[in-house]
Amino acid sequence: MSENVIKIAPSILAADFGRLAEQVEEAQAAGADLIHIDIMDGRFVPNITMGPQVVEAVAKAAAIPLDVHLMIVEPEKYVRRFADSGASSISVHVEACPHLHRVLGQIADAGCAAGVALNPHTPAAAIGEIINMAQVINVMTVNPGFGGQQFINSTLPKIRCLREMIDKLGADIEIEVDGGIHNDTIGAAMSAGASIAIAGAAVFQHHAGIAAGIVELRRAAVKALHGED
Ligand code: DX5
Ligand code: ZN
Repeated sequence: MSENVIKIAPSILAADFGRLAEQVEEAQAAGADLIHIDIMDGRFVPNITMGPQVVEAVAKAAAIPLDVHLMIVEPEKYVRRFADSGASSISVHVEACPHLHRVLGQIADAGCAAGVALNPHTPAAAIGEIINMAQVINVMTVNPGFGGQQFINSTLPKIRCLREMIDKLGADIEIEVDGGIHNDTIGAAMSAGASIAIAGAAVFQHHAGIAAGIVELRRAAVKALHGED
């Protein structure tokens, strides 16, 4: 794996919403590869965050792709709306979709990369039959709902398992890790086979600023993968 396949996706959940556009621009200038946007409905997860209008606002501030993570029930009702708001990829939770095959098709029809997110307890096998419909798999490394939680180490074997499944298919599917990604956890997640690290607190709440947060995460990932600074 070479350095440039490590992608850093800052999650705006941890940003200062009063200065959102400015913070997104700062993350982009510091080398962020994607901007991750967490949509929560107070039903699938016990928290409410933002809707398509915020995605639109971020789209105006950023040229890099917007990765929209839907932590909502009945996501099929909102796929088109988020696609129209500027999402490049849209992930839905396998636990929220009794008709996952249909929803992934709907995301692709809306012109976005289709993503599937898995809660920590959901096995890799849950998406075995539809994996080739996904362009991105979001492995939740915390229980979805809040930023700033601790990385769950027992998700690492699942990342390895998904990486094997993808490699066996010879498919071009990204694995994201989402939750509790910091300098001390990113290495294990990327070594297990993830290619996109989503990070909220580690970027937007870094004591030395957004750029330092991104640079440090990338350095820690490269060090874990290649044993160098
Ligand atoms: C949690 C969200 C994450 C969250 C990560 O439900 O899906 O994207 O923003 O935040 P940190 O990196 O602070 O754990
Ligand atoms: Zn997320």
